[in-house]
Amino acid sequence: MRLLHGKISTRILYLFTFVSISSLLSLAFLTRPRSKYDGPPPPFQRPTGTNSLKGIDPLLYNSGPPSGRLWYPQERALANATLLALVRNSEADAMVQSMLDLERIFNLKFNYPWTFLNNVPFDEEFKRKTRAATKAEISYELIPPEHWAVPSHIDPQVLNASMHRLEDLGVQYSTALSYHQMCRYNSGMFPFHPALLKYKYYWRVEPNVHFYCDLPYDPFHFLADRDLIYGFVIALYDAPASVASLWPEVLRFLASYTPGKAPLINPNAAVGFLTDSHYRPLHTLNASGYSTCHFWSNFEIGDMDFFRSPLYQAYFRHLDQSGGFFYERWGDAPVHSIALSLFADKKGIHWFRDIAYEHIPYFNCPRVDSSGAEGRCQAGRFTNGDKTLEEEDCRANWFHYAGIG
Ligand SMILES: *[C@@H]1O[C@H](CO)[C@@H](O)[C@H](O)[C@H]1NC(C)=O
Ligand SMILES: *[C@@H]1O[C@H](CO)[C@@H](O)[C@H](O)[C@H]1NC(C)=O
Ligand SMILES: *[C@@H]1O[C@H](CO)[C@@H](O)[C@H](O)[C@H]1NC(C)=O
Repeated sequence: MRLLHGKISTRILYLFTFVSISSLLSLAFLTRPRSKYDGPPPPFQRPTGTNSLKGIDPLLYNSGPPSGRLWYPQERALANATLLALVRNSEADAMVQSMLDLERIFNLKFNYPWTFLNNVPFDEEFKRKTRAATKAEISYELIPPEHWAVPSHIDPQVLNASMHRLEDLGVQYSTALSYHQMCRYNSGMFPFHPALLKYKYYWRVEPNVHFYCDLPYDPFHFLADRDLIYGFVIALYDAPASVASLWPEVLRFLASYTPGKAPLINPNAAVGFLTDSHYRPLHTLNASGYSTCHFWSNFEIGDMDFFRSPLYQAYFRHLDQSGGFFYERWGDAPVHSIALSLFADKKGIHWFRDIAYEHIPYFNCPRVDSSGAEGRCQAGRFTNGDKTLEEEDCRANWFHYAGIG
């Protein structure tokens, strides 16, 4: 009995020591100065004089996962969605790089099917390499030639002259015909690919992109449950010369189209995001009133039914008829972004701040935990190190007009 009692006392002593040490430790932890970035970011105040978000970038803050019910692997049937890439045979290795990253951070746990699109048939090497990168289903799809072809109203001589004019103005890829075709295809044709008609949501993935932290929840159910139609990570300015006549053409469409009773422009749209001239007034001037801000579309998680809607399709057909996909170099990013910021409620557009992403030379790097560091993708990192690229960041416009979300 005494022996037993002695053992208990020793245990109580141990316990007491343990408790005192832990309370000392937690006291030290509590008195440690909290980082000003702990907790959610304060309401967004646009910086003056520069477009730099340094020191106020919401990504520096430890804001935790998005609010509301999130769905984790195996908790619910898959959403009506596919991972989607428009990719060339020669990009097999680069595609595999992107796939391995996305599989590691997300899809190994969820198993969403992949859909690959190409304007020529996929070769055996592409199929072999990509099949080895996932256990999910893959569809290899040919783009219907009539969706890809240069429309008959495009005049080859005007096209050639325009390409060289834009080249002289320093517009990237302006002389690559397939680049123009790709931008047009991604702007308005892709949701009508026969293999995509059965899906509502897509996650666009390009070759040679990088994903860093884990995405533990299902982003498609996340959009669907909240009636969101589009998610982005990075927003950038565009080269004004590539879209010089896009905004006037959009205004012409708005003036000419009568859809019935509903107002064309959503009363809760983020129109200011499109017309802002705060930081780069010359961009807005040279692009005839368009800020050139756009959601960088190499990453998109979206609802294809928005792009299939009669209003979006009327808008796309109007732009297509004007020739600007070929006589200028309108990207699918500004074409998508303008429609979203005119026709959709800004609350339907979501910034996936928590998806750590890199497409050379830009990053979206969240603060995922209290350590805040994730190797190459450290909280708030935006460029590959080239300081002049910082000014291409136009997220401040989005935060200002639509909120951080
Ligand atoms: C294309 O444009 C360039 C420069 O404007 C010109 O030198 C060339 O002859 C044109 N080619 C054709 C096929 O029209
Ligand atoms: C998936 O979405 C598409 C497009 O909205 C729709 O046509 C299709 O019926 C949906 N499939 C299911 C199983 O809900
Ligand atoms: C705007 O246009 C002017 C005149 O063509 C040109 O000098 C300037 O470089 C352009 N700036 C931008 C940002 O496009």
